[in-house]
Amino acid sequence: MPIRIKIAKTAAELDSLFKTRHTVFVEEEGYMSPHSDGRIVDRFDTYPTTANVVALVDKEVVGGIRLTEASEAGMPPDMFFDFSNYLPSNTGKRAGASQFCLRQTFRTQAYRIATNLMAIGAYWCIHRGISHVMASINPKIAKLTHRLGFEDLTAPFHDPTHDVEVLPQLWETAKLKDPFIPMIRRLGMHDYLENFDRAFFLKGERIIKFGDAGSTAYVVVAGEVSVDVPGNNASGPETVTLARLGPGELFGELALLTNRPRTTEVTARTDTDLMVLERRVFQQQLQNDPKRMHQVLEMIANRLANTVGFLNH
Ligand code: CMP
Repeated sequence: MPIRIKIAKTAAELDSLFKTRHTVFVEEEGYMSPHSDGRIVDRFDTYPTTANVVALVDKEVVGGIRLTEASEAGMPPDMFFDFSNYLPSNTGKRAGASQFCLRQTFRTQAYRIATNLMAIGAYWCIHRGISHVMASINPKIAKLTHRLGFEDLTAPFHDPTHDVEVLPQLWETAKLKDPFIPMIRRLGMHDYLENFDRAFFLKGERIIKFGDAGSTAYVVVAGEVSVDVPGNNASGPETVTLARLGPGELFGELALLTNRPRTTEVTARTDTDLMVLERRVFQQQLQNDPKRMHQVLEMIANRLANTVGFLNH
């Protein structure tokens, strides 16, 4: 069951998120009282300084985290706590994290959804030059936010205005440890930092099905995938492995360039983290950057040469 993590863009994604917040905060955690329309949404969701990072399974939002860059309109965590005396002297631009939610069934560590939601949120912050993220959290999720690197500023307290328990926390974006930023530095592909769209597959899951129509290409961030041609011999199909691809390598580009069905199967050989390039994003990268165009051409030529070499043996 692949997990997609991205910044919510469509009305359907945002609406699904608002309903999921309600399911988690009201029904699963009992942290809030029910809202008549079954959704949780407030003014910060409408600001252009806000990004809602969502985790999707089959187009349904199963989790999310909201980041709001500091502005004169305020930030959600400030409504519960005055952070001004707690910010270190090296604080640059600030943001607030809020409305973290994750459906109970997806809290298992195998999916690492919480970590990955936070990582995408961190890229968004780093891209905007934000150094510190504040949060006023429900103390019940402190174990999780500590694991993500958030640090407590005080002991938990009761906020009488909103009638909730609050734990104020701070997080430094520079402390993020993950494979993505080292990878884009190594490849020199700094525009990848603007891509907040990722897909996560567990070992053995199929990523691309031979013969399907395709609308996305992928770059491996972490893990390894196998590119296979399925056998068509009824007495014993023999699958031929054409390649194994690892961090920094691109696949799924042929369907976008040719408008033809997928030429192979692609399967996760390990738990795999992929950057997703939608057709339009991929085409724009090629059009805007001759160096990128040349790299992709060279890669396709090499794979063609390998395949021809393979057939000649
Ligand atoms: P696409 O046809 O869209 O989906 C399957 C992908 O497998 C294809 O794009 C390529 O990215 C990749 N692929 C196909 N043939 C090879 C090959 N010989 N070596 C490596 N990758 C390949």
